[in-house]
Amino acid sequence: MHPGDETMEQTWIDNLPWEQLDCSKVESEHLQTVKAASLVEFNAYDYAGYLFKVFPDDETFHAAIRQWAEEEVLHGRALGRWAMAVDPAFDFDGAVERFRIGFSLPLDVTGSVRGSRAGELVSRCIVEVGTSSFYTAFARETEEPVLRQICAHIAADEFRHYKLFYKNLKRYLARDKIGRIRRAMIAAGRIHETEDDELAYANYAANGNLARPYDRQADGRDYLLRVYRMYRQGHMDRAIAMSFKAAGLKPHSRLAGASSRIAFWLLKARQRRMEKAADRDSEARRAA
Ligand SMILES: [Fe+2]
Ligand SMILES: [Fe+2]
Repeated sequence: MHPGDETMEQTWIDNLPWEQLDCSKVESEHLQTVKAASLVEFNAYDYAGYLFKVFPDDETFHAAIRQWAEEEVLHGRALGRWAMAVDPAFDFDGAVERFRIGFSLPLDVTGSVRGSRAGELVSRCIVEVGTSSFYTAFARETEEPVLRQICAHIAADEFRHYKLFYKNLKRYLARDKIGRIRRAMIAAGRIHETEDDELAYANYAANGNLARPYDRQADGRDYLLRVYRMYRQGHMDRAIAMSFKAAGLKPHSRLAGASSRIAFWLLKARQRRMEKAADRDSEARRAA
């Protein structure tokens, strides 16, 4: 369904002050980021399908997963509607279709790709850590009033989602009994996957020059650079504290503080390397 479709029931998206939309305050980088993020958010029903298979006999959790997926899809609709309001040439439905053709989740599973259900929930917590810190950073960064409200609303939802998965993680840890080291490894592994295909392909499907083939490295770098530029130390402190908690480590310890400073330094170093690689690529294109 179209994100601006009048037949949909009223949601928080309709209550946004759309009349205050100010295109003069939109940075083109932010518009591209919104377009790509809208596709990933909108794909949440696929994740719900995967989670139903990982937790096949947990009816209570199924209801929470359904609610979670609906909220994620609304994030996609809100971002898609904003992007189309700013750029009427943006074809949200077409971009969703392109994304789904080129990227799909491992839906043909009988258990978690993380090895256990508790492991799956650690991984889900980390995804929500990433999204809650990203939208918090984005709300601070943009000067466009409607986008700022959308990002603030989504950031609050993402934080609630983290709490939902964390609550269920504690329940499943009593059965699955995975140790702190395994949890920390799953958390670190999921953070590393940020640079996998999903965001890169969403960026290609939403913003790429479709006359050229998908380039995982360049399309991913293009997206992540825009995101990394928004992060400040405070965002990292909160993200590390939440990740530590999901991994079974003390969230407000010296170790967490040191890890946050190191992680922030690494992120900014990665950002600088990506900026250089992007410059090299655009020089090569100009010379060609
Ligand atoms: Fe979301
Ligand atoms: Fe979420």
